[in-house]
Amino acid sequence: MHKFTIAIDGPAAAGKTTNSKAIAERFGIQYIDTGAIYRTISLAAIRAGKILLPADQSEITQEWLDTLKIEIQNQDNEQRMILNEEDVSDFLRTERISMAASDCSALSIVRKHLLKIQRDLAESKSSIMEGRDIGTVVLPDATVKIFLTASPESRTIRRLLQLGLPHSEYHSMLSSINKRDKQDMNRKEAPLRKAKDAILIDSTDMTLQEVQDTIFSIVINKIGI
Ligand code: DC
Repeated sequence: MHKFTIAIDGPAAAGKTTNSKAIAERFGIQYIDTGAIYRTISLAAIRAGKILLPADQSEITQEWLDTLKIEIQNQDNEQRMILNEEDVSDFLRTERISMAASDCSALSIVRKHLLKIQRDLAESKSSIMEGRDIGTVVLPDATVKIFLTASPESRTIRRLLQLGLPHSEYHSMLSSINKRDKQDMNRKEAPLRKAKDAILIDSTDMTLQEVQDTIFSIVINKIGI
């Protein structure tokens, strides 16, 4: 089988991670969650007390980014993020980090810094890479491009279930997801957008299995196994 790449983009909590991992396992290829890299930088920025936005007041500099040693390790099919030798993976999924990652990702200095890192990751191995700008910017020549979305309401419910949060959190989670999507779609640099040649999957009324089977057959058709 020749090397191939799959780009999965879409808004927050659309099921990109769960589906990408399952597809990676089915094809025996590398899985890369690029959002986790933005989250790691934002964790480092929060710890360092850096101002992120507005961009003209941002304290994120190239010199500071260069001091961060970020490694990605794969353990038992889980992507672990190592920041300056510390495994920070378990600190990355809070709402505070989600919003800070969205803030950080609006900064062109951060996007430029991460572009090469992401391309290098997919350079040598068949990969499925998920994020917001994978099909449009990071891997414009990806073999298959998917834009995975679902209604904000169903994404909110899925996120609550995933984080084990009660239904009383519904409205605050919905507004946090809407806020993040709006910011990710309206930023100047590499906004969240469906690539022209991406296939749109709206998973609002689909089961996880249906989404995976749909992506699986799109890939099989494309690479012709
Ligand atoms: O996929 P995620 O929710 O873990 O991503 C966190 C934030 O990082 C998201 O709100 C926007 C940003 N991001 C990005 O701008 N580009 C990517 N390729 C991946 C994530």
